[in-house]
Amino acid sequence: MVEVILKADSEQGLINRNIYGHFSEHLGRCIYEGLWVGEDSPIPNTEGIRNDVLTALQKLHIPVLRWPGGCFADEYHWKDGVGPKAERARMINTHWGGVEENNHFGTHEFLRLCELLGTEPYISGNLGSGTVQEMQEWVEYMTFDGESPMANWRKSNGQEEPWKLKYFGVGNENWGCGGNMRPEYYADEYRRYATYVRNYSGNQIYKIACGPNSDDYRWTEVVMREAGRFMDGISLHYYTIPTGDWADKGQATGFGEAEWFATLKKTLFMEELIVKHSEIMDQYDPEGRVGIIVDEWGTWYNVEPGTNPGFLYQQNTMRDAVLAAVNLDIFNKYNKRVQMANLAQIVNVLQSIVLTEGEKMLLTPTYHVFDMYQVHMDAQRLELNYDSPEYAFGDEKIPQLSLSASRNKDGVIHVTASNLSATDELEVVIQLESAKATSVSGTLLHHADFGAYNTFEQPEQVKPVTWEDLKLEDHTLRFVLPPASVGALAVEG
Ligand code: AHR
Repeated sequence: MVEVILKADSEQGLINRNIYGHFSEHLGRCIYEGLWVGEDSPIPNTEGIRNDVLTALQKLHIPVLRWPGGCFADEYHWKDGVGPKAERARMINTHWGGVEENNHFGTHEFLRLCELLGTEPYISGNLGSGTVQEMQEWVEYMTFDGESPMANWRKSNGQEEPWKLKYFGVGNENWGCGGNMRPEYYADEYRRYATYVRNYSGNQIYKIACGPNSDDYRWTEVVMREAGRFMDGISLHYYTIPTGDWADKGQATGFGEAEWFATLKKTLFMEELIVKHSEIMDQYDPEGRVGIIVDEWGTWYNVEPGTNPGFLYQQNTMRDAVLAAVNLDIFNKYNKRVQMANLAQIVNVLQSIVLTEGEKMLLTPTYHVFDMYQVHMDAQRLELNYDSPEYAFGDEKIPQLSLSASRNKDGVIHVTASNLSATDELEVVIQLESAKATSVSGTLLHHADFGAYNTFEQPEQVKPVTWEDLKLEDHTLRFVLPPASVGALAVEG
């Protein structure tokens, strides 16, 4: 049993809704087949965007969507993807699978998708292989309201009014696929490119610099020192690879408790990364103005057997669900610095929330976690005090419990809780201090098999159910978390 004190009057700042963001990349079947099927497809669609996926994503109220990559972004030339589709350039997607990219999904289609989802677009610009002029003109094309070559071209392509564009990334992984740069060089390049990412016609851009790969603290140090004052956010990329070995990352399904434990242990490293990168940022930005933008995170396994290795298609189990909850709890906890996070990738790639096969679609266990956690978006984070019991496996230990708590604008307190143990249930007793608490209700995501997942034949193996046995007496809340589960509850006054 673990006792938790929840201080309902302790305001820890708003949880930025953008923590619940996603990432779409021209990679494998993410864009083509996953999001976009084209107007002429037999799969029901809205202006080429498949309806089943659209409806599923609309339910999550996705706050922000990153596009077009990833590594793809630093080879993407946006002018190839506007104008009549039949005339758009055909190219090879050299990073991902060497397949043909017909550029039918470009700027207009992405921004239309964002409109249909009610989400903020976050565009990743090409610093690695593109020019300053190309980046400047893209922003002008999208946001300039007046007479200019790019604005006129946009209008002739059917979009009279400029779009509002808030988030713009100046390069992606420029320490690797985005140009193999040193931080000193990137910092200077960032300063030059970012100068021309202009605020046209009242549009205000939040500029995001390429940040470190995982624990590359020197990258953060140099880029913050040399360019921190020219940016609003700096990215952080960290993928959870169960084996830690890129050559054999481990399987997405069919794993045992050893792999379960190793994966969760590795993902908990996210907290250390955020703490240490924040400490460096504090030296150059003591007011905490510059946000950490975790714009690529999630699990990365070996691809599903028989699929194109360049497509990075993987399944998604209860392990991914608990891991998503743990990461979202970490982002919530560090809400003062973490201003955005984008799970990779939204459909049919790494830790996807939706998978498709032809006309079929399924929601993954990770989808359900994002659904259950929506309640924390823009809510006031509340302080939680507890000592988590330990979950031991072999000689190693990790905390068994992960929690978040927040209060929304209507005064409802939401608690999300996950049990990291694959084998042991956990009784949790929460003392609600200074809270009005008369009723509690909730949902629970759990399966008797911690490796369970949804298939196109059985798409509802894993789904949330009403959480029975929640007990609220006076100001004491009691519940039992089954092994390998995620719960979400609401306390009303
Ligand atoms: O998510 C797959 C790739 O991982 C992205 O394209 C890249 O940014 C990262 O290395």
